[in-house]
Amino acid sequence: MDHTFSISGDGIMITPMTAPESELYRQLRNRPEVRARLFSHDEIGKEAQEAWFSRYLSKPGDYMFTVRSEGGTFLGACALYDEKDGRAEFGRIIIDKKAAGRGGVGCIALSLVCRLAKEKMGLHKITLDLYEDNVPARKTYERAGFVRTGLESSEKEPGRMILFMEKEL
Ligand SMILES: CC(C)(COP(=O)(O)OP(=O)(O)OC[C@H]1O[C@@H](n2cnc3c(N)ncnc32)[C@H](O)[C@@H]1OP(=O)(O)O)[C@@H](O)C(=O)NCCC(=O)NCCS
Repeated sequence: MDHTFSISGDGIMITPMTAPESELYRQLRNRPEVRARLFSHDEIGKEAQEAWFSRYLSKPGDYMFTVRSEGGTFLGACALYDEKDGRAEFGRIIIDKKAAGRGGVGCIALSLVCRLAKEKMGLHKITLDLYEDNVPARKTYERAGFVRTGLESSEKEPGRMILFMEKEL
């Protein structure tokens, strides 16, 4: 959705994703070590990303955020989506740790998005899900105050478990 929500703190800026940033996000997302952690492992082409971004801009309740350092370096992105009845789902988070030059930026970004969701969007709950074996993501979400609400086996990838978490804002 074409939105104007932004927030910053702890050396990180969260702003609405632009079309050029969507291309940087595609390049980051296509790294094999990143794709392995996501629910969809497919590599995304430039045109497919452009089409996705243009559909996204007119999709209600879907908010893509770019994560940058204070100096403006692109570090990654994350999203809130499926906003309904004061709740939204958090996801699509990818952080380029090398570009960040430090760990923990995912937790800072998520904490900022939670503040934004509460203070600027008026939301009261955020939910998310992830592969249980995704240790960096799990640690990030737990550190940002998310608690486990369920565990299910993945239909798409038998043998892998999907963990559900949420946070009251
Ligand atoms: C999840 C993500 C955004 C977190 O980024 P980040 O803030 O830079 O995370 P960090 O590198 O600080 O790692 C978080 C924790 O996981 C640990 N960790 C990192 N890689 C790990 C690994 N391969 N195995 C075990 N632990 C690992 C870190 O040590 C850190 O824990 P600590 O603070 O106790 O030391 C990032 O890992 C990422 O982009 N992953 C790929 C995409 C993805 O999985 N998205 C989430 C989909 S649900």
